[in-house]
Amino acid sequence: MTLRDYHLTLRDVSDEQPEYLETVFSLGNGHFGVRANDPISGNPITGTLINGFYETAPITYGEAGIGYAQKHQTILNLPDLRHVHVSTSNGHQFTHSKRTAVDLDLGSGTLKEKYVISTDQGETVTMAVTSVMGQGQTSLWGISYTFTAANYAKGLLVSKSIAVPAEAEAIPSADPRKTRMAGLPICETEFVTQDLQRYHVKTRVTKQAVTMYLGILVAHGQLLQQPVDLSDEQAHTLDYEAYVGEVGKHNTIDPAAMFMASSIAALVDDSRDFWQGVWNRSEVSVDGNDDLDLAIHYNIFQLNQAAGRDGRTNIAAKGLSGSGYEGHYFWDTEMYMLPYFTYTNQQMARQLLLYRYQTLPKARERARALGVDQGALFAWRTINGEEASAYFPAGTAQYHIDADIAYAVGKYFEITRDLDFIIQCGFEMVLETARFWENFGSWRQVGTDCRFEFHTVTGPDEYTALVNNNYYTNRLAKHNFGLVVELAHQMMKRSPQLLSKFGLSESDLDVYQNLADHVYLPYSNELEINEQDDSFLDKPRWPAEKSTPENFPLLLHYHPLTIYRYQVAKQADTLLADYLFPEDLSVDQLKREYRYYEGVTTHDSSLSRSIFSILAARMGDPEKAYRYFMDTARMDLVDLQKNTADGLHLANLGGSWLALVAGFSGFYVQDEVVHFANHLPAELDRLTYRMKIAESVLEIDLTADNLDVTVISGPIPTYGVSVNGELISLVKVS
Ligand code: BGC
Repeated sequence: MTLRDYHLTLRDVSDEQPEYLETVFSLGNGHFGVRANDPISGNPITGTLINGFYETAPITYGEAGIGYAQKHQTILNLPDLRHVHVSTSNGHQFTHSKRTAVDLDLGSGTLKEKYVISTDQGETVTMAVTSVMGQGQTSLWGISYTFTAANYAKGLLVSKSIAVPAEAEAIPSADPRKTRMAGLPICETEFVTQDLQRYHVKTRVTKQAVTMYLGILVAHGQLLQQPVDLSDEQAHTLDYEAYVGEVGKHNTIDPAAMFMASSIAALVDDSRDFWQGVWNRSEVSVDGNDDLDLAIHYNIFQLNQAAGRDGRTNIAAKGLSGSGYEGHYFWDTEMYMLPYFTYTNQQMARQLLLYRYQTLPKARERARALGVDQGALFAWRTINGEEASAYFPAGTAQYHIDADIAYAVGKYFEITRDLDFIIQCGFEMVLETARFWENFGSWRQVGTDCRFEFHTVTGPDEYTALVNNNYYTNRLAKHNFGLVVELAHQMMKRSPQLLSKFGLSESDLDVYQNLADHVYLPYSNELEINEQDDSFLDKPRWPAEKSTPENFPLLLHYHPLTIYRYQVAKQADTLLADYLFPEDLSVDQLKREYRYYEGVTTHDSSLSRSIFSILAARMGDPEKAYRYFMDTARMDLVDLQKNTADGLHLANLGGSWLALVAGFSGFYVQDEVVHFANHLPAELDRLTYRMKIAESVLEIDLTADNLDVTVISGPIPTYGVSVNGELISLVKVS
């Protein structure tokens, strides 16, 4: 497969509404993100988002309860670094602008834009803007403005400063997906020299600090105060660079020296190197639908831009592209985004898991707050590890997050065999979550059947809350118990003493095995399908008269109690478990279950369609898989959920990669065998993609009647590879 050039332009996106474009063309590097605001009009509310830089405020409940989350956590909107002031030399301000072209180069991470800008008096100039993130140097971002005369060809004054964000009015919203307004931080802005400005920002409550510097690199050999002369019909370029410090640190660098040693061209090289690495490991090529081909590249690009790389930050639900969901990390990471990293970049997967490990002490405290004196409960939504969900029925009650994290640890180990990570961090997370399950669940005797059950729980489907025995939750808890035993045996192979380090003896492993064997999994004998929970199938269906398009998403139109009383699902729930554990059910049962749950699912959550796509492929309906996949792959490019302006749907971006890999090429790993199966839909001529498993980069190539797997770099893997159910020997091609 040759690595091709991909560019996202205005033609590839659904509308030209500014907030939408700011999100779609945002740049990021895991540490911070810059929304693509119009540099002339700017955006007083959002500009720069730093991963993990947040403020807290007490949650005010009308009626509080014991153990309720105490504090909001909200990512801070920091100054818009792209804003530039331009005026004629006689003082007419350029206040109008029109974005005429945009080109996001996915191979180099460079964003190129063109604007026509004008004054109230009608003077017009064109402005080309190039911006790029440092990817190796993640504190840096650069922007370059090039002005050319249009109907105005005289002196132009350009100046740039870091503006303190305006105190935006908090507009109360009934949409829980939007951000809240955090209190403004304490900001100090000063000019260190004439062409280097410092912006020091400190949060009032969390006491985090960050220093940002904005420096001018090349001002046409002049200082900013002197006008650029457009009369010579040349293009005039001004380059700036910003340094965004690490959270908690300031003044640790000499930015002036750093900027002097740097240039926009050097940043572009740095960024291109990074993206070449990404595409070498995870290139995808889809023949037969160019829109899809571009979309999947874009999705992979944005996943990589969003993911915190330092082991202290993670991937927010909206990445670094917008402040929706307040910059919080959810289970979205482990179940939807992490797989892409686990199978293409294990080092990154490890960093993301490490973030969870850092929050384990908070998770232990949370378990105590819930009256459980052993184990840990990870926060449903959080930045700092504390629970920030003020609505526990669709927050803390989704304690499946514990098992999701354990599942992700297991998958990471399965593919890396990184026992050091397991001993240092992974096992503790798996054990502590299992201890939580052990103490939060209860035994029940039903006839001769002795079951371990979980009561008053909310599964992934947030339209059904506080029920008993959610299938997904129970299935994942069962896996969590089993994983304790499996990983313990792996550690014991290295040293039998290791168990005692975790306060365990071999007989404790029997306890966990017994729990794993007895977790209750609800099943309807009548319908011959797994039941979403003990009561789901008994409820009435959502009324037809409330099913017209204007009633969706239901969460914006109905009280939760209206929704909870019906058999209606926001997203894949039982089917998500079916996808994770293919060995659990026959294709016939899968088909029954799919038909049933598809009939009651609204897909109001962006986390839903990718799973429906994967399972349709698996059950032999590639055309349906393709239809769901198209919505998934292009969700933000067509603004399917109508809220991309608040930020990209990161879980769906990860889900679209999964739909391709786990769906169309039937990828899953089990018992040290990597499985593939050909489910290519007729609409596609060919699908080729790469994954990096352990040290080997594999290339998978599918056409209608063929599926090839080759090793393109690294050793021939030691794990088995199966294609359409048959083990194959891999060859290396150079
Ligand atoms: C979904 C959750 C998800 C959250 C953040 C909600 O709409 O129902 O499953 O974790 O969005 O993406």
